[in-house]
Amino acid sequence: MAKNQPQSKNSNSCTKFVFIVTFACLVGLACIINLASSFSFYSTYLSFTSNWMSQKPPTLIVPRAGEEPQISDKVGDGDLKRNKGRTSDSKRFLSATFADLPAPDLPWEQMPSAPVPRLDGSSIKINNLFYVLSGYGTLDYVHSHVDVFNFTENTWCARFDAPKYMANSHLGVASDGRFIYVVSGQYGPQCRSPTSAAYVLDTQTKQWLEFPPLPAPRQVTPIFICSNHTRLWRGRLHVMGGSKENRHTPGLEHWSIAVKDGKALEKDWRSEIPIPRGGPHRACVVANDRLFVIGGQEGDFMAKPGSPTFKCSRRNEVVYEDVYMLEGEMKKWKVLPPMPKPNSHIECSWVIVNNSIIITGGTTEKHPVNNRMILVGEVFQFHLDSLTWSVIGKLPYRVKTTLAAFWDGYLYFTSGQRDRGPDNPQSLKVVGEMWRARINV
Ligand SMILES: *[C@@H]1O[C@H](CO)[C@@H](O)[C@H](O)[C@H]1NC(C)=O
Ligand SMILES: *[C@@H]1O[C@H](CO)[C@@H](O)[C@H](O)[C@H]1NC(C)=O
Ligand SMILES: *[C@@H]1O[C@H](CO)[C@@H](O)[C@H](O)[C@H]1NC(C)=O
Repeated sequence: MAKNQPQSKNSNSCTKFVFIVTFACLVGLACIINLASSFSFYSTYLSFTSNWMSQKPPTLIVPRAGEEPQISDKVGDGDLKRNKGRTSDSKRFLSATFADLPAPDLPWEQMPSAPVPRLDGSSIKINNLFYVLSGYGTLDYVHSHVDVFNFTENTWCARFDAPKYMANSHLGVASDGRFIYVVSGQYGPQCRSPTSAAYVLDTQTKQWLEFPPLPAPRQVTPIFICSNHTRLWRGRLHVMGGSKENRHTPGLEHWSIAVKDGKALEKDWRSEIPIPRGGPHRACVVANDRLFVIGGQEGDFMAKPGSPTFKCSRRNEVVYEDVYMLEGEMKKWKVLPPMPKPNSHIECSWVIVNNSIIITGGTTEKHPVNNRMILVGEVFQFHLDSLTWSVIGKLPYRVKTTLAAFWDGYLYFTSGQRDRGPDNPQSLKVVGEMWRARINV
């Protein structure tokens, strides 16, 4: 494992980065145009409309059940709910937007877009700064840098490089208010395997520090980490779940390590109680001295066997609405009330506001007949006192892997992959847009 080269940009001045950001935008744009033809995210673009749920959804003629491609009935230990919504009729009508829940409008306003579009990126908010890390630009192009948004002046004000061998997507991130811990994730484009490498960013000096890699027993490298946006739990960094090396098989392992001031206090990660369900793309939140694991999925895209470029191919996925909680003694996972619908791709899509967890967007169960991935456009709230869920609003569009933050009364989100339009919840364009809405919860 080669050592990372620490960056040494210490200046906080935004103006210093203007040229770099502009250049990055041009390079990014060039890459996107270059790759557009080979990448289905960019086939067409449908313009934004704020009332995507109030329009009458079109209906879709569903083909005979027997025309579906054969898919396996099991993923990990999960039950596949593929029969839901199916009837014995050879044809029937099913709204394309059948999964949308009724939700009030929120007063969204568009803010400056991130310098690059991002899918499967990660984020951490520290005080008035929002650190947005890596992610895919397209399936063939991954980022290896951090963009910084300043909430006080609402500008993207800085950009600096990530270590060469740090993962480029699906990073596990946590922070103690100065240091950002980055653990594991996927290194490289398309559907390459996870890495066990871990790094720490000192946000004051913008230096990257070394950190013990995850115990990566060959096939097991979880790709998500648990934290709340300020937090480690009781001085320990927790990592759990994710997918094994083939990127598809869920891992149940849960590890932790004691940390202080950007350093590991122990030599090795410690094994903790395994999580009830493995798999990637869930929200892991520490709040009120408890650890919550929300949603996620089993199964994921994986590399086509033998493909030299690790080309992603769709595999069976099961999305969960499950919520689990771990308390101080870490003896047993408690099962809590489920989300209003199954939701995945939400690892950095949450914030904590007024003793509740707010979650923006995601993906829900695939279309029961055509198996397409269905995006989520609602904003959910989980009340930490009553342990109940509600739907508090809708986003400007349905979108997955949003990066969310809360600042000065506003719920912000940026990035992700959005839908094809109000009437079509399938995924299309990777975006860097940033939006905010004042919320009252
Ligand atoms: C963020 O903006 C505020 C207000 O303009 C400024 O004082 C502060 O230095 C900025 N922070 C960074 C890191 O650019
Ligand atoms: C995160 O957890 C820590 C420790 O439990 C807590 O002090 C902090 O307030 C939490 N952060 C947020 C944003 O809730
Ligand atoms: C949080 O609760 C306080 C007290 O009820 C309220 O004044 C405030 O508006 C709430 N904040 C948000 C963002 O809802």
